[in-house]
Amino acid sequence: MNKLLIVEDDLGLQKQLKWALSGDFEVIIAGDRIEAMKKLKSHSPCVITLDLGLPPDASGVAEGFETLVSIREESPNTKVIMLTSNDDKENALRAIKLGAYDYCQKPFDEDALRLIIQRAINLSELEEENRALSKNSRTSSLAGIIATSSQMIDVCKMVERVAPTDVTTLVMGESGTGKELVARALHDLSDRAEQRFVAINCAAIPENLLESELFGYEKGAFTGATKLTIGKIEHANQGTLFLDEVGDLPQPLQAKLLRFLQERIVERLGGRKEVPVDVRVICATHQNLKLKMEQETFREDLYYRISEIVIDIPALRDRPGDAVVIARVFLDRYAEKMKRRVSGFTKEAVAAIECYEWPGNIRELENKIKRAVILEDGDKISAQALELAVMPAELAGIDSVNLKQAKETLERQLLTRVLSQFGGNISQAAAELGVSRPTLYAMMKKYDFE
Ligand SMILES: Nc1ncnc2c1ncn2[C@@H]1O[C@H](COP(=O)(O)OP(=O)(O)OP(=O)(O)O)[C@@H](O)[C@H]1O
Ligand SMILES: [Mg+2]
Repeated sequence: MNKLLIVEDDLGLQKQLKWALSGDFEVIIAGDRIEAMKKLKSHSPCVITLDLGLPPDASGVAEGFETLVSIREESPNTKVIMLTSNDDKENALRAIKLGAYDYCQKPFDEDALRLIIQRAINLSELEEENRALSKNSRTSSLAGIIATSSQMIDVCKMVERVAPTDVTTLVMGESGTGKELVARALHDLSDRAEQRFVAINCAAIPENLLESELFGYEKGAFTGATKLTIGKIEHANQGTLFLDEVGDLPQPLQAKLLRFLQERIVERLGGRKEVPVDVRVICATHQNLKLKMEQETFREDLYYRISEIVIDIPALRDRPGDAVVIARVFLDRYAEKMKRRVSGFTKEAVAAIECYEWPGNIRELENKIKRAVILEDGDKISAQALELAVMPAELAGIDSVNLKQAKETLERQLLTRVLSQFGGNISQAAAELGVSRPTLYAMMKKYDFE
């Protein structure tokens, strides 16, 4: 239950308020400013109702305002609701100017007061959630790379360090981990940022077209070559050339690329001229190049050329904390873009995001959030809208992983399910669970199933 501090000197009113509100809140009472400040410190209530007329100025307003100011100084996040007399709108508004959340006029309607308090609590929780998230996201939001895990912060540091140099960099990582994002960050943080960033996906272009795409061709080089066309490499002159999925480069082109990297000149197809090109080269792949070298499908000498520096991006499941923080950013982004009113995630959704393995990494996370923002009817995105399995509530609530507790929760759930499935038939239930009958009896005893 949420804590509510009632600051009220009138004993009768104290009692009435306590009686009316203690069903919904954990009520704490204070009769004057000193007591109020003491209880604020010891209980940290999230909402306070504050009587304007407090002793020694019970018929005036000075002490009430003084108390309001002290509360705001001590605990700026606590919501204060002023209780004022019914003809005192002016002071009520003054209180709000001083930072009170709202006011309620005496004699007050209990239901209305309860509603105001509940709204204040909701707001306070929302703000708390936001603070936690932004605290979490001590993100290096380097050129759009959102990161909070130490693993990813290290990657960002590496990007910052490598970007201003011209070394050929190989970015590795599973599909959807952000290889292209990192490549762009390397470009954006380099001296070449004002120049072109030219990307070519070696896996997406048919082998017979890839060569001319990369190196360009002279007029008449082949049927259909009606005019001189420069290739991607030349196009990137002065800027950055990004060779995506370099692991898929066909072998003849590997040799040609190697020559370019060594000599930094291109020869267009059907041409004899050697054109010098000044580019910074970044390659990326989700393939295991070491394995491809063993299988002799990727040239070792090319590997050493492109991997002067290797940036290895960890999979999302290996970056503690990142999924939730990135999810939050995507949520805000897509809610705004699609003009949807979703303000956050349910507790279960957060737990589910943390537990899921994310085989498709950030790309999968992005797609799931986008979809959920469209489909979710409620104010918060649920695990269902994300199409993620809901953790048992007991597990979702465990902050630090307590293995014993987790195991017991699972055992209890499995037991419940299997016993109801087989209508209490012990032999069948034991067989289903793969335990002996005595073990099953012991488990049932442990969890009070008898
Ligand atoms: N750390 C991050 N913060 C914010 N957005 C990210 C992050 N990492 C990736 N993304 C976003 O996720 C999507 C996938 O990233 P990207 O295209 O860079 O991955 P990739 O590794 O190149 O994937 P693939 O192997 O499928 O080509 C992009 O929309 C990108 O902007
Ligand atoms: Mg990519």
